[in-house]
Amino acid sequence: MSEIKIFDTTLRDGEQSPGVNLNQLEKLEIAKQLERFGIDRMEAGFPASSKGDFNAVKTIAETIRDTSVTGLARAVKSDIDACWEALKGAPEPCLHVFLATSPIHMTYKLKKSPEQVINTAVDMVSYARQKFPQVEWSAEDASRSDLEFLAQIIERVIDAGATVINLPDTVGYATPAEYGNMFRYITETVPNIDRVRLSCHCHNDLGLAVANSIAAVENGATQVEGTVNGIGERAGNVALEEVAVALKIRSDHYPYTTNLKLNETKRTSDLVAKLTGMYVQANKAVIGRNAFAHESGIHQDGVLKHASTYEIITPEMVGVSSNTLFLGKHSGRHAFKDKVQELGYELSDEKLQEAFNLFKLLTDRKKEVTDDDLFTILTEIQTDTSKVDKYQLEMFQVQYGTTNIPTATVKLKSPAGETLQAACTGQGSVEALYKTLDSLIKEDLHLVDYQLNSVGRGKDALAESHVQLVINGDPMNGRGSAQDVIEASANAFLNAVNRYIVYQQTSNKKQAVK
Ligand code: KIV
Ligand code: ZN
Repeated sequence: MSEIKIFDTTLRDGEQSPGVNLNQLEKLEIAKQLERFGIDRMEAGFPASSKGDFNAVKTIAETIRDTSVTGLARAVKSDIDACWEALKGAPEPCLHVFLATSPIHMTYKLKKSPEQVINTAVDMVSYARQKFPQVEWSAEDASRSDLEFLAQIIERVIDAGATVINLPDTVGYATPAEYGNMFRYITETVPNIDRVRLSCHCHNDLGLAVANSIAAVENGATQVEGTVNGIGERAGNVALEEVAVALKIRSDHYPYTTNLKLNETKRTSDLVAKLTGMYVQANKAVIGRNAFAHESGIHQDGVLKHASTYEIITPEMVGVSSNTLFLGKHSGRHAFKDKVQELGYELSDEKLQEAFNLFKLLTDRKKEVTDDDLFTILTEIQTDTSKVDKYQLEMFQVQYGTTNIPTATVKLKSPAGETLQAACTGQGSVEALYKTLDSLIKEDLHLVDYQLNSVGRGKDALAESHVQLVINGDPMNGRGSAQDVIEASANAFLNAVNRYIVYQQTSNKKQAVK
């Protein structure tokens, strides 16, 4: 068995998914979970793209000890310098620098000749190696590049000091046979290839990302790059959990192992889904809600007789539990603290008290609080930016019926401490509520997306809402939970507005990547 390294780019390529914007605390929570998951290297962001990304990468580099941390740079000195400033506190600073090599990208995007591209790549890798012990060089759009040219540039950047060579299928265009052939060709042709690790990076535009990644591994790649839940640009990146579980379950066929702790898969997937607002579809491989559900009578009968009849992956293997019932109304602080620790959260005394108060409020309304409920509360507490003055919901009331006009009344406290009150009507209860909130908030607001989900099952399940707003021209996400769907919706809306206030204060605006 040979070991395949797992490189996670959830916080960089994943964060480039339309509609996703994570703040620093959320990125840090995901980074900690990636470390628990056993990721070998994580790409924490793109430091030159914004102050927010820079700070997030720096904090992650200074916090994470057991997973190597990297940052992305274009092939320009200022990007490499920004990465160094953000990453120098990491135990093993690593840079990921990329330059496109396909005729399409060189002609239309870079407007450089192949010779100029080679020179820039070599210069930037040598420059980076003066600072970084580890430099990964990516040939963007490798799968649409000329193979001879690719072999030539790879040989030169290895001589310049690259330690990892990554060959992305940037637009998800390759077939498994083509992608595998490219890796075989490079392995057989480039004379100094044994000095580096070879890496694959697949996008999923044609739904071939897992097959392509495995084809690369079968032809010499020893690192797979991807994201949790497969989030990312357009149709996303390869879902790392799918690659790792495929290698594990078919270890009779694939002689490869990874360092992932597969029983952390569910938790990692849930955290990424919750914080990004990109929920996985019920039938998603490995981790979807239905991945272990057997509906037809014939299947149920088979599974009852012997699980292996229809179940190739056990729920336990990927950390799917039966959502153990947890604490109730009479549970004390001690039992609560034990449970928080068991779930792997480290909270300050102040945050623990805050979480306990929320838990107690919930037990007034809900008989049994489950692990999923607690996970929702703890994630909110851990990623709360409560130090900043924000809008607070003091009270709301919504009147709704089939024969009257939905009307909402809302009382808010503004960041400046004033009490604001208004009432509006709408076509439905959420619209009335959102129109009222909009009328009270001075920012220019547009609702782009609204989602409502239940946390776990049962008639008293918590509701969780996600919204995407455009606030003064900037996209901003918000999420909120409550036992009532309207209250969860109000919380999500205000959360987006409050995140915008924090974002503005730290002027985290992203620059476009060319
Ligand atoms: O898909 C891609 O080509 C990338 C590069 C920046 C590595 O994400
Ligand atoms: Zn990519």
